[in-house]
Amino acid sequence: GPLYAVVPAAGIGERMGAGFPKQYLSLAGKTLAEHTLNRLLSFAPIDRVLVAVSVQDPWWPTLGVSTHSRIATVSGGAARAESVRNGVTRALELGGENAWVLVHDMARPLVRLSDIQNLLDQTDSQGAILALPVVDTIKQADDGNHIAATLDRDCIWRALTPQLFPARALHDALQGDLAGITDEASAMERVGRRPALVAGHSDNIKVTVPEDLALARFYLACQLG
Ligand code: C5P
Repeated sequence: GPLYAVVPAAGIGERMGAGFPKQYLSLAGKTLAEHTLNRLLSFAPIDRVLVAVSVQDPWWPTLGVSTHSRIATVSGGAARAESVRNGVTRALELGGENAWVLVHDMARPLVRLSDIQNLLDQTDSQGAILALPVVDTIKQADDGNHIAATLDRDCIWRALTPQLFPARALHDALQGDLAGITDEASAMERVGRRPALVAGHSDNIKVTVPEDLALARFYLACQLG
């Protein structure tokens, strides 16, 4: 079926503290948003890129890429999952019941096209997400600052994006209460599905706090060789 990228981009970037949403920060002469969208647009199997933008966002229309023929916008929501739900709804309207969605954070400008291809190759009908095995020992806290348990790190992964699902299945999983739904897989898990974990790369960071920009600059230089 047709493949739609859904890009939530309606956050305010509070943790970055830049005074404007983090996707408009500049990295090597382009905004993070342009890096992210250019990569998705250059991946041929993606038919259309659906960007969830806040109605109060004055920066989006100033990006040249905002008028690209393969980009369309949907309204952003109060929470990330709501922004995604709006995009997935549009994907179903455009592509019908056989549509698939590839959800990717606007704040992850360094995603590799080869990793997106791996997701497409390795998914089954339950969907698949990019993720990384943890390297640190992981502690579960009690209500305060004390350790309640040490988790078995051999079966702990960090969830990245993109995350790939049949549009209908994700749409239905995103109905109802979205509290605590911080990625698409968690919505699918809640309705009993078991998406696959596909090993990604650690340069696919979500630019979140100020020091991440320097890290993104470093990883971009490494990627360009
Ligand atoms: O807040 P977080 O870093 O998890 O945001 C991940 C992505 O979700 C960002 O690209 C952000 O713009 C987007 N987002 C959104 N709508 C919100 C909150 C975040 O589209 N209400």
